Amino acid sequence: MDNHEVTIRSVDFSTGVISPSYRVLRRTLREIAPIFWDQEAAKSILQAEGDRLIYEVHVTEIPESIEHLPFCTTIIYPGCVGEEYHMTKGHFHSQRQRAEIYLGLSGKGALLIQNEEGEVRMIEMEKGTIGYVPPGWAHRTVNTGEEPFIFFAVYPGDAGHDYKTIEEQGFARRLFKDQHGPRLVESPNWRK
Ligand SMILES: [Fe+2]
Repeated sequence: MDNHEVTIRSVDFSTGVISPSYRVLRRTLREIAPIFWDQEAAKSILQAEGDRLIYEVHVTEIPESIEHLPFCTTIIYPGCVGEEYHMTKGHFHSQRQRAEIYLGLSGKGALLIQNEEGEVRMIEMEKGTIGYVPPGWAHRTVNTGEEPFIFFAVYPGDAGHDYKTIEEQGFARRLFKDQHGPRLVESPNWRK
C-alpha cells in the first residue's frame, strides 16, 4: 500500500493550507498578465509594484492517474487589474469528458464555466458553496471580494489540464468590478 493511501490530511479553511503540505504553485501577474483585458493597467502595476501574487495552488502528491482523485486548494488574493478582478488562468480538461467539484472554504468569488460553443455560466461562491463543473466545460475562478477567496477542488486523476485553448481563445465573458459589484460582460476579443 502506498503512503498516499493512508496519510491523514487536513485543510485549514481560513488559509487554504493543506497539511501535510506537498507543493505550492504560485502564479504572479508577470506570468499571467496576458489573461487580463487591460494590458496598460497590468504594465502599470508591474512598474509600480515589481510583481504581484495573484493566486496560489496547494497540491498533494496524489498521482494524476485514472484510479485516483487528486485534490487541491486555491487561494486567489483580492484585487483588480484595471477594473477586472484577480482570477485564475482557466482551463479545459485535456480529456473533455471529465468533471470537477469545487467547495468554497473562505471569502467570496465566482466560478465561471464555459463550453466549447462559448456559452458561459457563473456560479457565485462563498464558504459552503459547492460548484460543479460538468464534463466538457472549461473553468476559471475569480475573487470578487475583499478577502482571499479560498476553495477546495477534486477531479478525476486522468482529467489532464488543457490551458492552451483558453490562453489562445480566452473566455467569452469577463468579470469586471463596477460601483454595484461584479458585472459579467462580453469579451470583445473572444476567439480573435
Ligand atoms: Fe480542472
